[in-house]
Amino acid sequence: MTLHKLIYDTDPGIDDAIALVFQARHPQIELLGITSVFGNADIDTTTTNARYLASRFAPDVPVARGASAPLESAPPAPIPHIHGDDALGNIERTGDVTVQEDGRAAHRFIIDTVRAHPGEVTLLAVGPLTNLALALRDDPEIASLVREVVVMGGAFGINGVLGNVSPAAEANMRGDPHAADIVFSAPWKVSIVGLDVTQVTIMTNAFLADVRDSAGDAGRFVWDVSRFYARFHVEEGVTDGIYAHDYSAAAYVVARELFTTRQGPVRVLTEGIAAALTIQKPLAMPVPAPEWDTRPSCDVCIGVNADAVLDLFAKTLR
Ligand code: RIB
Ligand code: CA
Repeated sequence: MTLHKLIYDTDPGIDDAIALVFQARHPQIELLGITSVFGNADIDTTTTNARYLASRFAPDVPVARGASAPLESAPPAPIPHIHGDDALGNIERTGDVTVQEDGRAAHRFIIDTVRAHPGEVTLLAVGPLTNLALALRDDPEIASLVREVVVMGGAFGINGVLGNVSPAAEANMRGDPHAADIVFSAPWKVSIVGLDVTQVTIMTNAFLADVRDSAGDAGRFVWDVSRFYARFHVEEGVTDGIYAHDYSAAAYVVARELFTTRQGPVRVLTEGIAAALTIQKPLAMPVPAPEWDTRPSCDVCIGVNADAVLDLFAKTLR
């Protein structure tokens, strides 16, 4: 029985790809579409990768090309040292790319699909939030028609966690801080899966080798695509494995009981040395703060049962 109709808004991206395989395999997820966005690479590369991934793992799912740049500035510099020149770990690609681009812009695809399934669609966003902000700008009413927005992004200082592209900024927020502040301030249900929980959810090389040996083509792909990323993590001090950033957000959709959340409005700084810093004002905080108090509450993840989240991945792929 389908419990979750998803649009996957993504900048594939190695961890994006791993999260897509999970979604394609999970029995309670129906992928209605994949929308690409700039971020881990330019929009041509992320859209090509989305079409490749859809062709290999979800051939009936449409792919719509999204934003090539943030709302207010130029796109970020490429990061081939993290995701590879092709943004999929420079792996050898097998099979034909049969999935073509939908033809609609991503934000139009989001609007049309949400309107076709009022109250049922979850937007799972794991890149800069430009497409979602553009959809809100074109059709503000979709905020009342979306079931939930689940975002991989931000860092909220839990256990001292900082940003990963500056002391303040997590990459997806830094990719488009204006869009993030618009998305977190809109009147829809928003859950945020930040570095506070994704950096304690690590797929070790032994875990990934077990997935490789027990999950057929999908398992072999996850192993292959994670090799380049694992080498980058060693340079970052994670000596064994990779952070499960985007997969953690996908796991939240189907197993939120494995996460602890804190409620309260979230603002995103849009300029200065701390640009893209995400700041939540917990509902329990008594101090008046109009810049937060006028905004809706978001659910921010402050804890996770990482072992259970990883078990879910391994069991789903088997
Ligand atoms: O900070 C991690 C996030 O940035 C992940 O979504 C990763 O794919 C990159 O987009
Ligand atoms: Ca991503």
